[in-house]
Amino acid sequence: MTGYLRTGFLTIQSEGPSSTHATDEWNSVVRAIEHALPFYESISEIISIGLAGPLRRRAIRQLEGHRSDWILDSGTGPGTSSRMLLGDGFEKIVGVDPSSILLRYAKTVLSPGFHPVLGVAESLPFRSSAFSGVLACFSFRDVRDKALSMEEFARVASREARLEIVDIGKPDGTIRRKLIEIYVTSLMPIIARFFIRGRAVGNPFRMIAPTFRRLAKNRDIAKLAQREFGFANLCEFGLGGLVIVEARRASQTRE
Ligand SMILES: C[S@@+](CC[C@H](N)C(=O)[O-])C[C@H]1O[C@@H](n2cnc3c(N)ncnc32)[C@H](O)[C@@H]1O
Repeated sequence: MTGYLRTGFLTIQSEGPSSTHATDEWNSVVRAIEHALPFYESISEIISIGLAGPLRRRAIRQLEGHRSDWILDSGTGPGTSSRMLLGDGFEKIVGVDPSSILLRYAKTVLSPGFHPVLGVAESLPFRSSAFSGVLACFSFRDVRDKALSMEEFARVASREARLEIVDIGKPDGTIRRKLIEIYVTSLMPIIARFFIRGRAVGNPFRMIAPTFRRLAKNRDIAKLAQREFGFANLCEFGLGGLVIVEARRASQTRE
């Protein structure tokens, strides 16, 4: 997956996933999202009990002061969050993803303000402080080296920038964690399969289970963000099965 992408932002030589990422499981996770493309957004909305869209929008609202600046959409996939950003008046979105298939699709369906870049969150091909906002919706759990990725988010974020991570959560409390684990690993794949109704071979959404198992607990992700940015806030939804982790430099004034 090595190649050049002229983004209008930078012309970048992308290395694609480095050897540390090239495990069968990680590849299967990315392939699964490619296979889910025709129904990715509708099924995501169903299995998140209608919360995926509203939480993306809630995170995007926090970036609204930067509508004319560069915003990074990490793990942009089919461009779901980038489309919402553009629809909300944001002008310059860079969508990073390791899948050229998903990036090509996103470029086709989105307006010219969307700039696709092939790459991974652990090694962002951008200069430091390049972005006024970093958004990662339902992609941080897929990143294999989360500490490195958080370092990279902090590096490319300008002093005024905010980080907004929206994702499946792993609650800190044992009972809530067990309930969410049962839902994500057992119930959710059944619900997804029912609504896919034969439109795909197999069930791409079953790949959420291994990424959930590897996920750190909610507070640990927030601590990671705090370590790199200085200030972080954890918002939990649906018993902590969905989270928004937001971070900014501690020097920024709080609202
Ligand atoms: C579930 S999709 C999320 C798509 C979109 N952001 C959304 O809001 O629905 C996860 C995306 O993360 C991407 N991804 C996987 N590993 C990644 C990494 N290391 N760095 C950046 N993106 C990654 C996948 O290719 C996939 O497109």
